Amino acid sequence: MHKIVFVTGNQDKFVEVRDILKTCGVEVIQDKNGYPELQEDELEPIAAYGAQHAANKLNMPVMVDDSGIFLKVLNGFPGPYSRFVENRLGNLKVLKLMETEEDRTAYFKTVIGYCEPGKEPLVFSGVVKGKIAHEERGIGGFGYDPIFEYQGITFGELRYEEKNKVSHRRMAIDKFLKWVINIDKKT
Ligand code: IMP
Repeated sequence: MHKIVFVTGNQDKFVEVRDILKTCGVEVIQDKNGYPELQEDELEPIAAYGAQHAANKLNMPVMVDDSGIFLKVLNGFPGPYSRFVENRLGNLKVLKLMETEEDRTAYFKTVIGYCEPGKEPLVFSGVVKGKIAHEERGIGGFGYDPIFEYQGITFGELRYEEKNKVSHRRMAIDKFLKWVINIDKKT
């Protein structure tokens, strides 16, 4: 069985990832000590650098998950600054920013960075397209879930298992798993 350290302080993300990877025989252990986050306009270099730094520090295979929500009419804002915006503004102020906007197109993106000690990092990305709702709906999920509409219902309204089938994180994890399984076949 593979053992991977998932460096994240976000318990919700950890549980989502642990549950998905468990179904494929990969054991995920949480490390809450964080990693240095580069200030970049894209998620990929942030995840790659974080995974490499943590893998070398912990001397274990490490994965990190860097995610964000990108609003088309705001030129991709908040994107890599999603956590900062959630902490400082929150969903209601984001909705206020969008109040007069007709184009509500948005996407969630997750980039998983994976690295083994002494090796180069790899990245696996996943995207789910949707729209920004006009108000918060649903009590499920976390973060921006109540304002992100996927096929008419928000991620906050979706059942946990349903979100895990279609989410940006799921797409990124599926790519990561495909790679893990392929490596297994070769060794
Ligand atoms: P981070 O990658 O954990 O720093 O996430 C960036 C921001 O996006 C945080 O504010 C998270 O709460 C939010 N976020 C990440 N993934 C999700 C998700 O699946 N649903 C809703 N919000 C998310």
